[in-house]
Amino acid sequence: MTNKTMTDQRLQGVAANAGRVMEPCTLVLFGASGDLTQRMVMPAIFRLARRGVLSPEFHLIGYARTRMTDDEFRARMRKAVMREPREGDEQAWTDFAARLSYLPAQYDGDDLQGYAELAHRFEQLDRGTGAGARRLFYLATPPELFSPIMKHLSDAKLAGQAHHPATGGWARFVIEKPFGHDLASARALNADIARSFNENDIYRIDHFLGKEIVQNLFALRFANVIFEPLWNRNYIDHVQITAAETLGMEGRGGYYETAGAIRDMVQNHLLQLCALVAIEPPAEWNSRAVRDEKVKVLRAIRRIHPGKVKHDAVRGQYAAGSINGKRVPGYRKEEKVATDSQTETYTALKLHIDNVRWAGVPFYLRSGKRLAKHETEIVVEFKPAPHTPWMPGGTVGKGVRPNLLVVKVSPEEGIFIRVEAKQPGQGMQLQSINLDYCLSDERGATESPSAYEHLLLDSMRGDPTFFARADEVESAWEIVEPVIKKWGSEKSPDFPNYTAGSAGPASADELLARDGRRWYDSTDQAD
Ligand SMILES: NC(=O)c1ccc[n+]([C@@H]2O[C@H](COP(=O)([O-])OP(=O)(O)OC[C@H]3O[C@@H](n4cnc5c(N)ncnc54)[C@H](OP(=O)(O)O)[C@@H]3O)[C@@H](O)[C@H]2O)c1
Repeated sequence: MTNKTMTDQRLQGVAANAGRVMEPCTLVLFGASGDLTQRMVMPAIFRLARRGVLSPEFHLIGYARTRMTDDEFRARMRKAVMREPREGDEQAWTDFAARLSYLPAQYDGDDLQGYAELAHRFEQLDRGTGAGARRLFYLATPPELFSPIMKHLSDAKLAGQAHHPATGGWARFVIEKPFGHDLASARALNADIARSFNENDIYRIDHFLGKEIVQNLFALRFANVIFEPLWNRNYIDHVQITAAETLGMEGRGGYYETAGAIRDMVQNHLLQLCALVAIEPPAEWNSRAVRDEKVKVLRAIRRIHPGKVKHDAVRGQYAAGSINGKRVPGYRKEEKVATDSQTETYTALKLHIDNVRWAGVPFYLRSGKRLAKHETEIVVEFKPAPHTPWMPGGTVGKGVRPNLLVVKVSPEEGIFIRVEAKQPGQGMQLQSINLDYCLSDERGATESPSAYEHLLLDSMRGDPTFFARADEVESAWEIVEPVIKKWGSEKSPDFPNYTAGSAGPASADELLARDGRRWYDSTDQAD
């Protein structure tokens, strides 16, 4: 089977799973002049349109302050989606472009004409489809605009009143990260939203949850009898979750100064992965049951006592170095970054999940910028084999490595299991081999935007299973809050403490070394 056929089948599978071509709907994309729109959202929507998954009555209204005509907006979007043109794209684009329009307007402030104009456009579109108002509002703006936009939509009766089950109408909101800056602001944002809208209509997006391989964790664990009985403290030694990036700030230093690695990656993506690795089997397959179980895991994660932050949490900041042979500046020399910045570009945490399944099994999480490799993965290390009869005394000795299950999340998606096998020939010499499943079936196909495609479809179908619920987000903030507070109150005298292009700060290695462990790296993989 060719790569293209596989990808087509996979994407048709996405639609088939959805059960049908989507019902007519209008997507309003706030922040339509921005980076995320062009890199992720629009390419994902176009791919859905290309595959015939969207209704012919799907319409998209781009909303932002930048002055552009409909045609200028279309030209900009065309450039964004045609970065990798494919066969047949020109015709598909022409059909798709006819369904795009643009509305230059303010999000907030005194001039709220934009919302009145939106109402007018909805009226025209609803009349055209005759199918009741179905509206998806995608908030791809800076986070300080999330609350005001939702309030104005509510005040202008553009969302809530669409909820007429008799006409099949609905209004849903996809909200980008970051969801809050800390626990208090996340709670305030949730409270603002709850004043006007129903939680079931809120889709807090975390694109890691849209990845095939991440959703596969459920299948891996609960559809395979060889894993589920082992998936607990009796057989698992520890879990490592890594999100390593080679990129630096890429012009986003201003945002990153207010965030840092713990807010940018750990509070959302890594804790979501952690919850899915540790989750109990949901009693039913629906968004409530799945998210209830995720929340239980997050609540069971032991809060790090301020006195233990130094012991269980590591922070780092990169100095100048080289990535792939190219010199790169240190964090403090990046654009819009303070020369004495205390922002961490690397975080590692040791977490404990205080429940029956995971008692005594540490979960080590780490994420950093400007590291040697771009790699996101989950490593589950099993306990050593209890007895190897051919070894002196039958004990586990040198050369017997514990089994590993590695879920590769990015840039490739796949799973491999490292097992021990006999080397061919005389005697009982062992070698490690990988049982390997690679999901990456074509260059770039498994990288975003496919995660965005999954999630956009889910939001159109009304399935929030793979989106974060209000209580999940707050629980995740509760976990990182003590660390953020401690770091906010104490300077890190050793910053910068790792070189760009390295594996991160030495203190992160010490975090595991103290427990007699070390971070997994590709040399641990079988040849
Ligand atoms: N870019 C990414 O890779 C990425 C990844 C994950 C999450 N996100 C999140 O997605 C959202 C959008 O990200 P983005 O990178 O597309 O952001 P962006 O390009 O900075 O902003 C999106 C649009 O919002 C408007 N805007 C920017 N700053 C504003 C301000 N101070 N006041 C009012 N409007 C402003 C601009 O449009 P107008 O001036 O035309 O109105 C801009 O084109 C953010 O919440 C971000 O955190 C982004």
